[in-house]
Amino acid sequence: MKAKEKKKLVCLCNGVEQSLIEKAIKEGAKSLDEIFDLTSAGVGACGGSCRPQIKKLLEIHKNEIKKNPEED
Ligand code: FES
Repeated sequence: MKAKEKKKLVCLCNGVEQSLIEKAIKEGAKSLDEIFDLTSAGVGACGGSCRPQIKKLLEIHKNEIKKNPEED
């Protein structure tokens, strides 16, 4: 089931897969704006209907990774 989620398209406007968003978070993106900049997800023609999903991914993976303890 996890592998299936990895191929999930999150941002339909810009064709951004969940795996790319997770990669951006793992590489240090800590906010929605940083994810938008790194992946182009969330800034498509629809005005960002995928943003709640991106936010959810950020919250999930930010807690798992926690690369920068200074952010607390
Ligand atoms: S689906 Fe992501 S901006 Fe439209």
